[in-house]
Amino acid sequence: MTDLDSILSQAQTAFEAAPTSAELENAKARFLGKTGQVTELLKGMAALSVEEKKARGAQINQLKSAIESALQARRDALARAELESQLRSEALDVTLPGRQRGAGGLHPVSLAIERIEAIFGSMGFDVAEGPEIETDWMSFTALNNPENHPARSMQDTFYVDMKDAQGRWLNLRPHTSPMQVRYARAHAQKHAGQEPMPEIRVIAPGRTYRVDSDATHSPMFHQCEGLWIGEHISFKDLKVVFTDFLRRFFEDDSIQTRFRPSYFPFTEPSAEIDMMFGSGPLQGRWLELAGSGQVHPNVVRNYGLDPERYIGFAFGMGPDRLAMLRYGVSDLRLFFEGDLRFLSQFR
Ligand code: PHE
Repeated sequence: MTDLDSILSQAQTAFEAAPTSAELENAKARFLGKTGQVTELLKGMAALSVEEKKARGAQINQLKSAIESALQARRDALARAELESQLRSEALDVTLPGRQRGAGGLHPVSLAIERIEAIFGSMGFDVAEGPEIETDWMSFTALNNPENHPARSMQDTFYVDMKDAQGRWLNLRPHTSPMQVRYARAHAQKHAGQEPMPEIRVIAPGRTYRVDSDATHSPMFHQCEGLWIGEHISFKDLKVVFTDFLRRFFEDDSIQTRFRPSYFPFTEPSAEIDMMFGSGPLQGRWLELAGSGQVHPNVVRNYGLDPERYIGFAFGMGPDRLAMLRYGVSDLRLFFEGDLRFLSQFR
């Protein structure tokens, strides 16, 4: 093996052994750099004759280009390896399940309340909300339900062991009827002196509470109050409005309603509203849906209005019941357990 062959094989070995580009460039310097072996060979030619220089020069140039191509081959190999490892480390596993954003949806009772609001809204009813912790006066007294009157026990109220600033006992409202009083009083004040006073037409949906718990009763449930007061509003209007509402809510014109005499301290006369489907699985069965009646003169007085002049009707219905009937849910408790397997069916 000539000295040149040995330099070439040294260079090839050194390049192959360089694990990184930086070390490869260091190895290159040992052969092709200013003091590298090839450079030294060229310097050593000074003493040679012209003929010898020609032959030796050609050999050295051959060696140099062989070293350069070994170098380039190693550079390419290292660059490929680096690219591959970078690709590997940044690789995406497209077979992994993606992170999904859960699609939310409204609770079935909220869906029912939205429907109620849309239908009554189209009939010119305002939508009002009020406090769930009420005063004794709003929940009962203003509704013609005097203190110590036995009718108060129609509702198994949760009392709060606390009084408000005026010393009135507080309770978790057992019905939305206090909203009749709150809304009507605010309306009467706002339009005081205006002739004629614009009619009161409002619904008030919200949470209500009673000491009650079984498949069809929950200690927390929903009610929606309705109130229409004017100079000529009669029971006939209640029948038309409520029947029309039910037919639109269930999208079923075969629905019949029945007004069954009943008693509430705040209405006179009073009626339970029953409905019956003309078709479908519940066809022919009367279903109780709401309490209602002509607002009692004492209550109209507590609105701040003259009962000789203003008259109208109120009703209180259960959106939970309406949601059960519309969506075919048989147990009320399902609405309030927060089980996603149930709730996601309404998305
Ligand atoms: N507040 C009554 C109840 O909870 C329902 C009702 C409302 C009755 C309005 C008549 C008028 O049972």
